[in-house]
Amino acid sequence: MQTRLKQIIYVSEKTNKSSDSLTDIYDISQKNNSESEISGCLLVGSNSYLQLLEGPDSAVEKLYSKIESDSRHRKVKKLYDQRIEKKWFSSWSMKFTPFNSMKWDNKEFDAGNFQNMNCTGAVKAFQSIKEIING
Ligand SMILES: Cc1cc2nc3c(=O)[nH]c(=O)nc-3n(C[C@H](O)[C@H](O)[C@H](O)COP(=O)(O)O)c2cc1C
Repeated sequence: MQTRLKQIIYVSEKTNKSSDSLTDIYDISQKNNSESEISGCLLVGSNSYLQLLEGPDSAVEKLYSKIESDSRHRKVKKLYDQRIEKKWFSSWSMKFTPFNSMKWDNKEFDAGNFQNMNCTGAVKAFQSIKEIING
């Protein structure tokens, strides 16, 4: 039987512990995610994160609960949790994307603050990144 895949998208607020930790998050993500067949995309805002995780159900859930309790961010809010047939970012263990590489048409998002992003907006954002990457 084929492995069941899912996607989770969440938004969170950076804490002051997060300032120097982006390289650490990058390094651990490359290592862990490739080992557990997880891929995804992390949008790095000015004061928040928006992340899409995708891969085998149990691996994604396990990683999400680890990330949820990471003190480098808080107010971790799940926006989306869906079964998928095919990964969107299969060639990226975790693609890091700076918020200002996107065109948002929204003042808060333009400023890199994603706290008030809703499910539809978040899915759209990752869809457009996916289209840019995959053509
Ligand atoms: C915004 C954010 C995104 C993260 N993304 C990932 C990720 O994609 N993969 C991962 O393994 N850890 C990620 N982490 C780190 C985890 O919270 C955790 O520190 C790490 O997985 C611990 O790995 P270990 O169990 O191998 O020590 C992230 C942390 C933050 C704050």
